[in-house]
Amino acid sequence: MIIGIPNETKPGENRVSITPDVVKQFIKAGMQVIVEDSAGLRSHFSNESYTAAGAVVKSKDEVFSKADVICAVNAPAVHNIGLMKKEAVLISYLFALSNPQIVEACTSAGITAFSVDAIPRISRAQKMDALSSQANLAGYKAVLMAANAIGKIFPMMTTAAGTIRPCKVVIFGAGVAGLQAIATAKRLGAVVEVTDIRPETKEQVESLGGKFIVVKGDDSVKIEGGYVKGVSDDFLKRQQELVAKHVADADVVITTALIPGKKAPLLVTDEMVKSMRDGSVIVDMATEQGGNVQGSKMNKTVVKHHVTIIGEANITSQLPSVASDLYARNIFAFLTHLATKDGFKFEIEEEITKGSMITFKGQVVHPSLQKPVNA
Ligand code: NAI
Repeated sequence: MIIGIPNETKPGENRVSITPDVVKQFIKAGMQVIVEDSAGLRSHFSNESYTAAGAVVKSKDEVFSKADVICAVNAPAVHNIGLMKKEAVLISYLFALSNPQIVEACTSAGITAFSVDAIPRISRAQKMDALSSQANLAGYKAVLMAANAIGKIFPMMTTAAGTIRPCKVVIFGAGVAGLQAIATAKRLGAVVEVTDIRPETKEQVESLGGKFIVVKGDDSVKIEGGYVKGVSDDFLKRQQELVAKHVADADVVITTALIPGKKAPLLVTDEMVKSMRDGSVIVDMATEQGGNVQGSKMNKTVVKHHVTIIGEANITSQLPSVASDLYARNIFAFLTHLATKDGFKFEIEEEITKGSMITFKGQVVHPSLQKPVNA
C-alpha cells in the first residue's frame, strides 16, 4: 500500500495531512509513503525530515498518480483527483453535501472517497475525529486572537495605580471549540459566560469555571446523537432577548454555534453588536456556515459600531505544527481501521466505514447524497 501526501493548495492552508512522526508509524505498519516536494514546509516539516522518517519525496503528479491512497487535509483540486489511479482511495475533508463538484470528480475518476468530516462521532471513533481535534485547537486560538485584538487585559490586576477589572467573555456554543475557548479564557483570567441549547452542556461549562446562561428549552430543540438537529425561531428569539444583556456587557464574544448540515443560526444581531462597548471584540467561528454574527465576513476582520469582528474561517491553520500532528494521528487511526498493508477491507456495513464513505469505486454511496426514489 502506497500512501501519498500532497501539498495543500487551498489558499491560506498551512497544514499537512501526515507529519514525519506519523510517517514512521505507517512504515512500521508495513506501508510505503510518498510525499510531495515541500508539502510540510508551511507546518515546519522539511523534506529532509520526511526522508529521515522513511518517506520518498516526489512531484505532485507522481504523488497523485502513484499512490493507492491519497491522504489530504482539504479536498484536492478536481484535476488532481483526475490523476488518481482507478480504484485508488482518497481520505480528506470533503464536506460532500456542499461540494458536488468534488463528489463528481471522485465518481469520474472511479475512486473511493472517505470524508473525515463524516466520521460518526461515536466513542470508538474518537481517536479518528479530526473535526474535534481541529475545533479544540481553534477554540484555544480564537481566544488568543481576541486577546490580541482587544486593547485590554483578560485578568483582574491590582496595581499601584488602581485595580483593573477582568474582561468578560461571552461564548455561544459549548461544543468542542466552545469548551476549549472557555478553558482558555478562564486560564487567562477572564470572567466567562456561556450559552448553549443542549441542557447537558451546563454541567460541562460549570466544571470549567464558566457561568451558564439558562434559556428554558422546549420541545422544538431536537437533539440526535449528541447533535442539535433543529430549533424553533421562537426559541432563538427568547435566547436572543436573554443573551442580549450579557452581550451588551461583554468585552469579548466568541461564537461557535453550529447545527450540522444547516446554515449557522444567527445569534448576534447588528443591534447587539451596537450595544457593545467601543473597542470590544467578536470572533465568529462559524463564518464558513454563514456566521453566527450579523455583519461578520468570512476570512476578514471588520469593524462595525467600533467593535472588531473577526471572521477567520481556518483558525486551525494558524497552529499548523500541532494541528497537522493531531490530524495526522487521526488519519493514522482511521486508515489503519479501514485497511492493512495489503489493502482496504471495505466493510461496507461497518458503522465508521458506512458513515464516512462518500463514493465506492466511482459510485456515490453516502445516504445523505442518494437521490430520493421519485426524484
Ligand atoms: P460542535 O457541534 O461540537 O458544537 C456546536 C455547539 O453549538 C453545540 O454544543 C450546539 O449545541 C451549539 N448550538 C447550536 N445552536 C445553538 C444556539 N442557537 N445557541 C447556542 N448554542 C448552540 O461544533 P464544534 O466542532 O465545536 O465547532 C463549532 C463551530 O466552529 C462550527 O461552526 C465549526 O465549523 C467552527 N469551527 C471553526 C473553525 C475556524 O477555524 N473558524 C475551526 C473549527 C471549527
